[in-house]
Amino acid sequence: MKHLLKLADLGKADILRILNLADQLKYNQKHGFGQSGLRGKTLVMLFNKSSTRTRVSFETGMYQLGGHAVFLTGADSQIGRGESAADTARVLSRYADGIMVRTYGQDEVEQLALHSSVPVINGLTDYAHPCQVLADLMTIREHLTVLDGLKACFIGDGNNVCNSLIVGAAACGMTVTAACPEGHEPHPDAVAAAGAAFTLTRSPRQAARDADVVFTDVWASMGQEGEAAARAEAFKGFQVNAELMALAKPGAIVQHCLPAHKGEEITEEVFEAHAREIFDEAENRLHAQKAVMLLLMGDGAGA
Ligand code: CP
Ligand code: NVA
Repeated sequence: MKHLLKLADLGKADILRILNLADQLKYNQKHGFGQSGLRGKTLVMLFNKSSTRTRVSFETGMYQLGGHAVFLTGADSQIGRGESAADTARVLSRYADGIMVRTYGQDEVEQLALHSSVPVINGLTDYAHPCQVLADLMTIREHLTVLDGLKACFIGDGNNVCNSLIVGAAACGMTVTAACPEGHEPHPDAVAAAGAAFTLTRSPRQAARDADVVFTDVWASMGQEGEAAARAEAFKGFQVNAELMALAKPGAIVQHCLPAHKGEEITEEVFEAHAREIFDEAENRLHAQKAVMLLLMGDGAGA
């Protein structure tokens, strides 16, 4: 593992290694055992889209591991004035020990990685959100103890989170059914990577039946604000509500990467009933990403 660009680049063993280390790091953090595996190291965080969780969890994670994070936006840097990904990557590689990037095109992240001599971590693109799904898998395992054999469903837009979910969950032995309206299916590459573990349906009820984990995400992702009204129309009926949850297994958990648009993809009632696992999921971004950074940027990285 040299970079974390998408989950299809990782095998089951890589994912479990990250999750096991994340569990250990979470335990250590909660019990006051300090970790300093990234002492003296710097992560540059490059954001071309908004963020609350990703920014704060990466920055806090670096601090907790003895390192330092630099926040940069495209607009406020020379990237916004046209400096290429290739040159940016070569410059940042001379200062920093890792680059985390949140942007639009997956190709932008791949370009940075191609020209960077330090690890590049995808902090969300239009195509993928691998760090999110590592935290989700960690949370599912915490709540349901295993991953293998679980049935997950994703209700709504076949977006970046859905793409990463179907790949990551399939790699870990889960099956995933996505209920998406026509024209909003997950990316064919993600579907191909998930293989036989993935099923697509137009029926949220069919997807939710007997599910152990119910996922959803916003109907209009960052960059799709202009389509919000049309999407609200297309996604009518693709809501995680009490009626849908009644079809899932007793004890089923809900995962939402946040931010949530309550009343759209999820009702306030279901959100609050499942707030514990949803905020565990948000917390686990910190622990999962610390594991990723240690494995990619720590001394002995790549071992
Ligand atoms: N879930 C997630 O990535 O949140 P932010 O957009 O706040 O970083
Ligand atoms: N699908 C959402 C996830 C936000 C964390 C988006 O891309 O905006």
